[in-house]
Amino acid sequence: MGGSEKPELIINGKRLDGRTSDQLRDIKIEVGAVRNAVGSSYIEWGNNKILAAVYGPKEALPKHVQDPEKAIIKCRYQMSPFSSLEDHGRTGPNRRSTEISKVTKEVFQNVVLLEQFPGSEIDLYIDVLQADGGTRAAGITAAAVALAASGIPMTDIPFAVSVGKVGSELILDMNKIEDNYSDADMPVAISPRTGEMLLLQMDGNLTIEEVNRGVQMIKKAGEAISKIQRNALKVSYERILEKYKK
Ligand code: CDP
Repeated sequence: MGGSEKPELIINGKRLDGRTSDQLRDIKIEVGAVRNAVGSSYIEWGNNKILAAVYGPKEALPKHVQDPEKAIIKCRYQMSPFSSLEDHGRTGPNRRSTEISKVTKEVFQNVVLLEQFPGSEIDLYIDVLQADGGTRAAGITAAAVALAASGIPMTDIPFAVSVGKVGSELILDMNKIEDNYSDADMPVAISPRTGEMLLLQMDGNLTIEEVNRGVQMIKKAGEAISKIQRNALKVSYERILEKYKK
């Protein structure tokens, strides 16, 4: 956030990419992008390009991480070195990717039926190939589809998106330039069936009224995001059915 020369982000009610304040970027999801994974997906969310892959459930290793009552989830979010103009020369985990991996894992611990797989691990990989703001939300949305495609039982297919604040205005689904110069950023993940909030982070300051209004914007956008997630799964099942017909 911040920066010395702050560009105008909203001109005549329109954002720099032409969107209105509550408009999502275009989202496309494809199931089955990673051949060897149990479940996988590829998402294009605006200019973000992200792969999500699920492996397991399998015996949790090393043994001391095993939980005899339920499966554990291991999550590794990472940005590829070529994913943005910022320097990603140093590979391997950093503070930010460790944090995003942790909060993503916590989202899915709340919806995966972990008790069905005691002693196991479920591995979740989120790889950002191209980054343009909001990759944690897009990664969670893609991972939810990859998990659903893997057949691992879940109570719901969560989605995530963020709301930001520019001056006094709330804007949905910020891209990188908006994120850079915004006054606040609040990524939220939700289980659409129950409305339960599985992630809420906040960078910057929002009033309680703004948080409530932001969550309403996110829930509304969630209807569209959920539809895209479910449609991606439907298309993949139809493809499988087609194969059996032949
Ligand atoms: O991706 P998200 O908005 O969830 O996370 P962020 O930490 O708020 O980062 C905002 C954006 O900055 C990312 O989406 C990337 O486009 C960019 N970024 C980057 O290119 N390299 C980093 N090391 C960190 C962020």
